[in-house]
Parts: sequence; structure tokens; C-alpha cells
Amino acid sequence: TDAHTTGPFIAAIDQGTTSSRCIVFDTDGRIVSVDQKEHEQIFPKPGWVEHNAAEIWTNVQEVVDSAIAKAGITSADVKAIGITNQRETTVLWDKNTGEPVHNALVWQDTRTDALCKELGRNVGQDRFRRETGLPLASYFAGPKIRWLLDNVEGLRERAERGEILFGTMDSWVIWNLTGGVDGGVHVTDVTNASRTMLMNLHTLDWDQKILESMDVPAAVLPEIRSSAEVYGHAKSGALAGVPVASALGDQQAALFGQTCFAEGEAKSTYGTGTFMLMNTGSEPVNSYNGLLTTVGYRIGDQPPVYALEGSIAVTGSLVQWMRDQMGLISTAAEIETLAMSVEDNGGAYFVPAFSGLFAPYWRDDARGVIAGLTRYVTKAHIARAVLEATAWQTREISDAMTKDSGVELTALKVDGGMTSNNLLMQTLSDFLDAPVVRPMVAETTCLGAAYAAGLAVGYWPDTDALRANWRRAAEWTPHMDADKRDREYKSWLKAVERTMGWLE
Ligand code: G3P
Repeated sequence: TDAHTTGPFIAAIDQGTTSSRCIVFDTDGRIVSVDQKEHEQIFPKPGWVEHNAAEIWTNVQEVVDSAIAKAGITSADVKAIGITNQRETTVLWDKNTGEPVHNALVWQDTRTDALCKELGRNVGQDRFRRETGLPLASYFAGPKIRWLLDNVEGLRERAERGEILFGTMDSWVIWNLTGGVDGGVHVTDVTNASRTMLMNLHTLDWDQKILESMDVPAAVLPEIRSSAEVYGHAKSGALAGVPVASALGDQQAALFGQTCFAEGEAKSTYGTGTFMLMNTGSEPVNSYNGLLTTVGYRIGDQPPVYALEGSIAVTGSLVQWMRDQMGLISTAAEIETLAMSVEDNGGAYFVPAFSGLFAPYWRDDARGVIAGLTRYVTKAHIARAVLEATAWQTREISDAMTKDSGVELTALKVDGGMTSNNLLMQTLSDFLDAPVVRPMVAETTCLGAAYAAGLAVGYWPDTDALRANWRRAAEWTPHMDADKRDREYKSWLKAVERTMGWLE
């Protein structure tokens, strides 16, 4: 039977770092239609990255309407809408006009580095990690809210008067989708809230003392809800009337879409950045090796599921940078052909610490380096070094994951745009010395949001039904000589050392 013709369906909205997309899925978790639109990346100063939240909301409406039109269906055929999003990116808006008060500060933005340093001195690093599972770093939303309140004129007073709302992109999209100034619901889910540095990981509520330390008024904060429940209904557009029934940060959604429902199961998603998450079950596991402790998901009133996360800020965005800023390639796919034209990296190592270094280092003062250059090196060697950077960074977080969890990596489930790069996937398997497997539906982020929404409205009965949808599409196995791997890893780590100490 052709499931594409027999509804009903679930629609997922993925508000990502470079684009917004909407995908319609059927009960087998197959893609019925897709639409996607990129938004502007705004770089006002070195280390600063912004998005226009109003542009993003316009794009979301467009991709929803167009995905529904392409599927040839109406709102009556759609049982629920799931939301997933780039995490940490912070927007504050006026609740009476719906206008953002400033561009959104993107997760990659490092402008809060000095503020984080000061908080570390005054309040202490460990204090935040204990309650929130996160190291003090410019990556997270809390310090970004504080920066906006301190730097946009009159904003703190307006926030204290209750006129201003904060959201990560899930909240922004849900508030607008459910009516905006006309009754929009102001909520977030536990996974997104766990990236603000303001939520207590144990109570799953805003932490009063941390709010005081960060100087953020509780009045701006959304209500924290589970990842799968009906928050409200779409007010307008092609999906008017359909329940909005899930929200998960994109990396947690990918964990869910890869059906990593059991303790010890892990996935790695290759997008703008790369994020490896391992399900650690119903208890938060502390990291002693530079990983984050975060919420994996929470289905309705079931107990929460926690995860360990290794976050890498720059992977796919390095390829974009090679294309847009350096002009060394004209399409992202060319990085593979260029890299394949040489045997190896020619001695060059590229550590793309453009937003400082994330896991396992958490160094806001790191900046990118290309090390090991001689006149022998060509742009093809650099292309190779670009791909190897993604694989080595994964190796580093996989090592940390093994140390923290005691679970040896037997195979890595991967997804995301960069997994179409065969050379990268082979290199990854070589550097990890483990098989790398990719499922049939590489759009696991949207799939995870659809799964959670579908569970919330009874479209799928339980997680076992979702597991049955996971099918292997490709697998890479390691071929690299162990001595060579060790030598190369040492050189990579030497290059990493060269990135640190660029800020006073
Ligand atoms: O934490 C940032 C992450 O959620 C961004 O993901 O796929 O938009 O690069 P992506």
C-alpha cells in the first residue's frame, strides 16, 4: 500500500541555525513533503552572530504552508504539529506588539565571554554546573538574556514591569503559531529549558537562586512543559486548528528520531555544528570530562530521560565558511571532491575554534588555527583537514563519553546534512575505530519532533512502534592502521593547543 496517499499525517517544524523547514510524515515515518528556507546570518563584529526573529517567523509560516500544499493535503489530514529548533538562541520580544526588541543572539555568539568570566569569579563555576549540568560558557541562553537586559536601553525596566517575554526559538515559534498577541501561549519544553543555564536539572523548574545570580527577572520566563503534550492549537495558516503537541531542542529531537530510547544508546548529528548525545536513563549523570548533562526528553507526565552531550560548535559551518568567506569551493558538496583529489592532509590540521572551543574544553578564549603548514600544502590538503577536523572533534567527545559513562562505543548512529559526504563518514569510522551507521530517514531531527507529537495525540501507540521504523541505509567500517591513527591524533591535539589564549 502506498502510505503517502493514506493519511492522516504529522507535520514537523525545524527552526534551525541556517534554515527553517517543515516536513510532513506518514505513520511509517516516511517523508511525504518538505519545504525549507534559509535566513540571514548577521555578523556585526568578530565573534557576534545574530538572527532576525521576525524574518524567521515569516519563513516558518511560508515553509509550513508550502509543505502542506506540496503534500496535497489540508489541515484536516494533519493530526499534530511537532516543533524542534536550534537551541540556546535567545530572543526577547514585546508581549503587546509581538515585536522582537533586538536581533536574536545565536548560540554561536561569544559576546557574553567577559560576563561569564565575571560570573565565574563572583559566583563560582561549579555552582552553575551542579544545578544546571552546564559549564559557564557564552554558548547558553541565560547570559545572553542578561546581556540584552543590560545593553538594550530601558529593557530591564520594561522586563520588570512584565511587558517582555523571553524565548528560545521553540517558545518564539509556539507563541506566534498559537496566536501571538492574540492569545499565544508562552511555553518551552524541558530540553530547551535545560540549555538556558537557569533551569534546575533535578526539579525541572527555574532555579530562583540562579535567576538572582544571573540577574534575570522571572517575569520574562516561559512555563516549562514536557516535550510531548498539547500546548495549544495553530491559529492561522494552512494548519489552523491543528494541535501543537511537541517541542524538543534539535539535538534531543535527533536522539528521539534515532530511537535512542534505551540507556547507553547514542547518536551524533552533523549539521552547522555536531552534537553527540547519549541516553543515560532517568538520572542525570555528572560529567568529569567536559560533557554537558542535559534533559533528553520527557513524554507527558512520564519521568524525564537525561542525556550526556558532547557539543562541537563548528563542523558544517566550516564548510560554509570555506565556500562563502574563503571562496575555495563553490558548493558544499565540492569539499569532498576536492579532498579526494589528494591522499592525505599533507601535514595540515585545521582547528575551527570560531566560537571558542566547546566540548570537552569549554574555552571561550580559543580561536581557529591552521597548523602544520609548509609550501607543499594545497587547497585540497586544506579541504581534507576541514573534513578531518569534524572527525577528530567527534573522536574527542566520544573518548569523553566513554570515560564518563563507562560504555564503550560499539557503533555510532549518525544523521544530518554532512552524512551525505562519504569521505567524511569513512574518515569518521577510521578515527573512531568503530562502525558508523546511518538510517534511511537522515532527517532525524524533524522525525523526532514528529514522533513526540504523534505520541502525544495517540497517532503512534508507544516507542516500540517508533523503533520498528528505524532502518539502516548505510554503514562504514574502519580501515585505518592503528599506528597511523595514533600519530595523527597526537598531531591534531597539538594543533588544538595552539588555539587557546587569544583573549585578555
Ligand atoms: O546547540 C545548538 C544546536 O541546537 C544547533 O543545531 O543543527 O541548527 O546546527 P543546528
